[in-house]
Amino acid sequence: MRISAAFLLAAIALPAAAQTVGRSGEAVYREACMACHASGLNKAPKPGDTKDWAPRIREGQAGLTAVAWTGIRQMPAKGGRDDLSLEEFSRAVAWMARQSGGNWQDPDAALLSRIDAAVKKREARAKKPANS
Ligand code: HEC
Repeated sequence: MRISAAFLLAAIALPAAAQTVGRSGEAVYREACMACHASGLNKAPKPGDTKDWAPRIREGQAGLTAVAWTGIRQMPAKGGRDDLSLEEFSRAVAWMARQSGGNWQDPDAALLSRIDAAVKKREARAKKPANS
């Protein structure tokens, strides 16, 4: 009977889940991020490594997601996956943070627009010539 109780819960949660488009954070992680992050390749922060994630989580969800989306050091922009939407990517970041001591949730519309604004700010800064 435990299985059917779980099934019932899933069915109740479904209307909310049905509104989300695209892959879940965990699915994106497995598909697009795990290759580097599971092993900590080039110092990629591993999910579950609370020590490595703590300062990143302190940066805040919008800021950190924007940094990762635009790329930093050995972290390629979008994890090298141009097919991911910003929303899917953000869910993967939130999922990793949740494995690592954070309580970040899949972004709602308000958070997503803050992430988008932070991305645009970083992109604008990157385009500016160094001597201006
Ligand atoms: C090719 C390897 C690679 C892939 C694929 C990759 N990452 Fe990374 N990622 C890295 C490395 C290396 C770092 C560490 C960068 C640093 O801080 O020097 C990193 C750092 C990060 C950070 C922390 C950024 C910061 O400012 O500290 C986040 C968040 C992140 N990745 C998310 C993702 C997500 C989400 C995906 C999948 C969609 C992904 N990464 C795919 C290599 C990768």
